[in-house]
Parts: sequence; structure tokens; C-alpha cells
Amino acid sequence: MNVKFIDDFINMCISGSNLGWHERNGGNLSYRIKDSEIEEIKESLTDNNNWINLDINAKNLANEYFLVTGSGKYFMNINKNMEENIGIIKLDENGESYKVVWGFENNGTPTSELPSHLLNHSVKKEKTNGLHRVIYHAHTTNIIALTFVLPLEDKIFSRKLWEMATECPVVFPQGVGVLPWMIPGGKEIAKKSSELMEKYNAVIWAHHGLFSSGEGFEDTFGLAHTIEKAAEVLVKVLSISNKTLNTISKESLLSLENPFNIELNKNMLD
Ligand code: 13P
Ligand code: ZN
Repeated sequence: MNVKFIDDFINMCISGSNLGWHERNGGNLSYRIKDSEIEEIKESLTDNNNWINLDINAKNLANEYFLVTGSGKYFMNINKNMEENIGIIKLDENGESYKVVWGFENNGTPTSELPSHLLNHSVKKEKTNGLHRVIYHAHTTNIIALTFVLPLEDKIFSRKLWEMATECPVVFPQGVGVLPWMIPGGKEIAKKSSELMEKYNAVIWAHHGLFSSGEGFEDTFGLAHTIEKAAEVLVKVLSISNKTLNTISKESLLSLENPFNIELNKNMLD
């Protein structure tokens, strides 16, 4: 299908792949499709009754359509055969089951992280009055590295990342959430992630990667990129020396609030 939202979706996958965040089948992406976009492609969707239980409840996503990457599929190959590598699912009227209405050809299935994607969408739809539509999971190298050496606390990661680049407090003034190591792919990690998504637009999974949420493909990717870039700086700083001479002080961080019209999460500054 030749439509803008699918092109943008695929371009985001390729951008992440080019940055080395999607080794093999690592990472996944989902987009809550607008009614007007479904209208554009409705001739290409198939009707069927093959409902698959999700084992989670996302009531506020009832009857919504999502474009999702396939489980086991390589981001780098996505545009070679999009009908096999990605697909569109529709949720039922209770937000408890889904059916495939396009794509996932040759026995493909949506990403194994579908529970995390959908519960995060559910929280963000509610919290942002429907503005957020994109959830992205990437295996960001430097963020993963930091989860081996920093305490797994929201406050420590948020403050350290803010200090690594002046744009960080501006791009994620709420900070970031951090989850300890958990088994991926199930409803437990999905529930814990979505609890953190109530407060943050980005959640780190220790020894695994990053989730980000946003309105569109650019800002969601940009958030992950900004966080990973700050993590790269921090990895370099920690590698050069165990003592830092200078940083962005608490006062300097706070002085960004007025000119950039942001409100920093003060819990990260105590
Ligand atoms: P999928 O191939 O099922 O999307 O899994 C990749 C991944 O990153 C799991 O966390
Ligand atoms: Zn993963």
C-alpha cells in the first residue's frame, strides 16, 4: 500500500536500523491509525472473524486499528516485503482481542511486545486526550550499557541524562522511568511499563532497551534519539574518568524553564 503513514512508519524503522538499534529482529513499532487514514485504505483491508485473545484489557482502544511490526522480523528488511514484515490489526469492542486485517502474510504475527505497545497506547490515549499515537521500542546500545552501572532509579537516570546535554531537560522535562530486568513479551512487563508511561514519555528496560511515546513518528523517534545520544555522552564521560569537573548545575537546569516554557519534574532535582 502506498500511503503516507505506512511510508513514515517504514522510514522510522529504517532510521533506527541505520543507527544500530535493531540488530536481527530487535525492537518493534506501533501506530494508532486515524479514522481518516483507515478510510483511505479500507478497500485493501480484509474482513474476517479470526479474533485472538490479548490477555490484557485495553478498553479505551476498542475498535481501533494499529499498524504494527511483525514478530521476528528484521527492521532492515522491512521495505523489501512490507506485507510480510508489518501488518494492521483491529481490536474488538472490548479491547481484549485483535484480528489481522492486512499484512503479516505467510503466517506472520504482530510483535511479541504487543501487550506493552497496547497498554502504553491505552495510557497515552487517556493522558494526552488522544494526541499520542506512536509507541517505539529500540535496543539502544548506550542506554543498555548504563543499566549495568547506574542504580535502576528514575531519578538517577533522569538527572544524569539531563546533565549530559542541554536539550535533554527541554525534550523530556518529566524525566524517564526505569524498570528492573523483567521477562520480555508478556503482560507483567506491559503492566509495569504502562504504569511508568502514566508519568513519562520514555521508559528504560534494564539490560534490554528503551520505549518511547509521542504524537507522531518524528517526535517519538527524536525522543529516543535524544535519550540515547545523552546516554552515549555519559558512557564516554564515565569511560574517560571517574571524576567529572563540570556539569549542568541544578540552578542551570531550572533556569531553562522560563525561556523554553517547560516545567521540570522537581522530584529529579532534590
Ligand atoms: P519481536 O521480534 O517479537 O518484535 O521482538 C523483538 C524484541 O525486541 C523483543 O523485546
Ligand atoms: Zn526488545
